[in-house]
Amino acid sequence: MRIVIVGTGYVGLVSGACLSDFGHHVTCVDKDEQKIASLRRGEIPIFEPDLQRLVQINAAAGRLVFTTELITSVVDAEAIFIAVGTPSRRGDGHADLSYVYAAVQDIAKAIQRFTVVITKSTVPVGTGDEVERLIKQLNPSADIAVVSNPEFLREGAAVRDFKHPDRIVVGTDDERARKVLGEIYRPLYLNRAPIMYTGRRTAELIKYAANAFLATKIAFINEIADLAEKVDANVQEIARGIGMDNRIGSKFLHAGPGYGGSCFPKDTRALIKTAQDAGVPLRIVETVNSTNDIRKRAMARKVAAPFHGNIRGKVIAVLGLTFKPNTDDMREAPSIPLITALRDMGATIKAFDPVGMEQARSEMPDITYCDDPYACADGADALVIVTEWEQFRALDFDRLKRVMASLVVIDLRNIYDPDEITNRGYLYQSVGRANKPMY
Ligand SMILES: NC(=O)c1ccc[n+]([C@@H]2O[C@H](COP(=O)([O-])OP(=O)(O)OC[C@H]3O[C@@H](n4cnc5c(N)ncnc54)[C@H](O)[C@@H]3O)[C@@H](O)[C@H]2O)c1
Repeated sequence: MRIVIVGTGYVGLVSGACLSDFGHHVTCVDKDEQKIASLRRGEIPIFEPDLQRLVQINAAAGRLVFTTELITSVVDAEAIFIAVGTPSRRGDGHADLSYVYAAVQDIAKAIQRFTVVITKSTVPVGTGDEVERLIKQLNPSADIAVVSNPEFLREGAAVRDFKHPDRIVVGTDDERARKVLGEIYRPLYLNRAPIMYTGRRTAELIKYAANAFLATKIAFINEIADLAEKVDANVQEIARGIGMDNRIGSKFLHAGPGYGGSCFPKDTRALIKTAQDAGVPLRIVETVNSTNDIRKRAMARKVAAPFHGNIRGKVIAVLGLTFKPNTDDMREAPSIPLITALRDMGATIKAFDPVGMEQARSEMPDITYCDDPYACADGADALVIVTEWEQFRALDFDRLKRVMASLVVIDLRNIYDPDEITNRGYLYQSVGRANKPMY
């Protein structure tokens, strides 16, 4: 198949690399010239495990090419995936579809044969109808089918998720389009990944419902964590105790500083807006969204608690800046409102992240970035674990003891056993687990 992917970000690049690895001929298009130039040099602009290898192999085999030229690429494509960003629109929280429609305008002009136009970007219900209307308006003779094929990959495990999806959702009533999508995903289908064919609007809403449900699970366990802390119970054991029930499931039940990232915050906000416009407000999702927003900044109070709420002049070492491990993505990372709040309270911030510091610098230029966890902890009054990178799971607490100004550890990801760290002489606080008495 000759496939064009418009937008070469986390989703577009991973999709392009994996589809070319299946044997398809893929052209990845992006309007960002620097990004395309670095991809042509074999440099991957994002951090994603296994992606570099996949891109290099398939580019070398001539199955994966990168360009800024959308129109020439589209002319002989059988399928065009739209994978551009759909961020929150400034001011109102609706999905900003300007990148999608800008891409569609260029695609519409170039189409010359039967082409399946597939939205992989997360777009509100009804967007497929508008994409179809726009293409027909700009190019009345275009022979097209517009399909919704939402993406469910997770950053940090994106290649594996793309190649081993729980399901593939294809939203279209067009038989020809179903055949094309069936052919594109045939290697996955042979691996027994279920393909679910559905209506286009239903497919669009499946994506938002999935993300809102997962966000709800996280917000729910975070509230239970707050209660557990107050009543001397342990949220990790509660999560285990409920997660073993198959009806509930054990995933997305890790208490922490609130969810961030490029999807859950913006997608819950967009779904709330869609529902309000439809006259069916989603009260549960509205609450999830607002409690999560408040939670990220509120974590600063937890950090300040061992100092009786006063951290003016204190040095706080922050380990982990990205919104989760194994990615360099800083979008809506909990570290940002947390660090802002700590600075508002008068603290000085030192930080370390294994791969996210370059991205973090543009968001937070005024904090001190360090080369490793121990340099970060040097002279610190408290060490705060914000992202659970693997290398933070076995810190050398004896070495930390020698460099820290006071022995306070705030573990917002519950990666350590409270007794173990307390027995080493630290004051240790975590989330939703009975915290030892403070100074
Ligand atoms: N990141 C994820 O984990 C994830 C998972 C599932 C779904 N999604 C959805 O996929 C979509 C893309 O997300 P992302 O994280 O890959 O975004 P991204 O910001 O990483 O990448 C988007 C890319 O599109 C390019 N672009 C924008 N307009 C363009 C145009 N007209 N022509 C060519 N290129 C253009 C940008 O330059 C950028 O490189 C979003 O709708 C997102 O919600 C993301």
